[in-house]
Amino acid sequence: MNIPEFVAIKKSGRKISMLTAYDSIFAQLVDEAGIDAILVGDSLGMVVQGKANTIPVTLDEMIYHTEIVARTAKNAIVLADLPFPGGHEPWEDTLRDCARIMKETNCHAIKMETTVAQKECVTHLTEAGIPIMAHIGLLPQKIMSFGRYSMQRIRDELMRDALAMQEAGAFSVLMECVDHEIAAEISQELTIPTIGIGSGPHCDGQVLVIQDILGLSGRTPKHAKQYVDLRSQILCACDAYKNDIENGLFPPK
Ligand code: KIV
Repeated sequence: MNIPEFVAIKKSGRKISMLTAYDSIFAQLVDEAGIDAILVGDSLGMVVQGKANTIPVTLDEMIYHTEIVARTAKNAIVLADLPFPGGHEPWEDTLRDCARIMKETNCHAIKMETTVAQKECVTHLTEAGIPIMAHIGLLPQKIMSFGRYSMQRIRDELMRDALAMQEAGAFSVLMECVDHEIAAEISQELTIPTIGIGSGPHCDGQVLVIQDILGLSGRTPKHAKQYVDLRSQILCACDAYKNDIENGLFPPK
């Protein structure tokens, strides 16, 4: 899979699958399952580092995790999230950060949180040959300004942001918690693929955080679907191991 092949999936009518991964074991599993794209999201701040939000995640941490995932995955395209406050510095600084991620990790593309305000920056990045997936709608890096994680319903602003990113050369638009009808309209309007999270069934593809589908997060967000309860299974396994040690059953005599 490369970026043009990823983009071409939209025309084929097949829906695109994308999951997060942050380490080698999960990258290998997601890749082997045939998922189209792996996102090394800055959600690692919460699911790996146990922090309250994505804001503390650093460029060096993104590079560390993305290098592992990109080295492991053999088929899926691998995207790195540009951490806070990516895209809000002078565009030359953002270009330098994105180039560092690509040089040091060998990933295929960068995902960055955007509005129309990043149009000039994204244009410079894509002209430099950096494939950009533009994240619109709910922007977790702005949680302090947003106040809470909520559905985004201002149609004209969302459509403006999506079209601006397509014009800037983004190869895909990720929509987080966008009203489902608006997400459907944007997906129809854009020629590039849309990837939804909490944005309904009419996007060209879907992305979820892997810990949520595996039941490892403790609490599955409303927009996610839990396919297995690994948390309970891991607790059972740890409990059985502890009992075996205490009862002299492991290691065997
Ligand atoms: O950081 C992340 O994992 C994300 C997804 C939830 C889309 O941005």
